[in-house]
Amino acid sequence: MGAGLAATLMAGIAPRTHAAILKDRANGKKRLVFYFTATGNSLFIAKQFSDNPLSIPQELKKDELVYEADEIGFVFPDYVASAPMIVREFVTKGTFKAPYIFSVITYGNASVSVAEWWNDFAKEQGVVNNYVQTILMVDVYLPVFDMNEQMAIDKNIDENLAMILEDIGAQKNFVAPTDMGFFTEERLKNMRDHHFSMTADRLLELRKDRCAECLTCADVCPRDNFSLGEDGLQYAGQCEFCLACVHHCPHKALTLKSAREGWPGERNPEARFRNPNISLREIIRSNKQTNKTV
Ligand SMILES: Cc1cc2nc3c(=O)[nH]c(=O)nc-3n(C[C@H](O)[C@H](O)[C@H](O)COP(=O)(O)O)c2cc1C
Repeated sequence: MGAGLAATLMAGIAPRTHAAILKDRANGKKRLVFYFTATGNSLFIAKQFSDNPLSIPQELKKDELVYEADEIGFVFPDYVASAPMIVREFVTKGTFKAPYIFSVITYGNASVSVAEWWNDFAKEQGVVNNYVQTILMVDVYLPVFDMNEQMAIDKNIDENLAMILEDIGAQKNFVAPTDMGFFTEERLKNMRDHHFSMTADRLLELRKDRCAECLTCADVCPRDNFSLGEDGLQYAGQCEFCLACVHHCPHKALTLKSAREGWPGERNPEARFRNPNISLREIIRSNKQTNKTV
């Protein structure tokens, strides 16, 4: 194994697995893959299933959300054992027709009940999944994890991804089972209430001396929460809690406010993450809402 590949695997990053993609192309199936990503893990996975995965924040700009294919896939991060609000919105508004529907949910530490939660939620919106699987990747949840420590952990992405590609290639039926671990339904509910009612000004702290007003935060925000005012960078509005603004700021000018008295807002405000297979440009193309910053 070359030094480069070894370092890549240690960072928990899988090289692209081309064999299964080629196999599916040869089958001549029409496959649509929709994704949401903040730090690139889910886009990296989505790209294993399609050469042209479609960004959910961009699709949501369209008037008509009606999709039909041989296979439809959803790839997105686990947020508190459930789906990001923007993913829920897309599935609620859209119509998806395919004989085989699959979902792959990226997570960083404990997937708990996310597969079953998503299976039930999607079904209520009329989207019946044949396959829902989770895949362990770098955990980008800054309140709990230090990105430098996370990137040093080998998360077996290559092996797990190969298995999922194999399953979906064979149109397997499966929903990953729940493992509550030390979580309870009540604890999950409290955590979800906190996360999914977040606003940008409650979540974020700006280190003004570091801000270069480059507006990278505005470019990567799927909710269009940032702008430049007379006093510099401004942010407000319903927040996805995706942390794209924090992770991609080139100057590490954005940090997290403490959620609880006496607790630090995050483990390491100097450590940030972007999946090394994904460029900043790809994140911007995925999430950018307006042209006001160009
Ligand atoms: C607000 C938030 C909540 C999260 N909740 C969980 C969780 O409950 N369990 C878990 O294992 N990972 C959790 N994560 C980690 C992400 O699911 C994981 O790092 C994911 O791969 C990030 O995907 P992305 O790079 O496509 O944005 C959370 C991350 C964020 C930002």
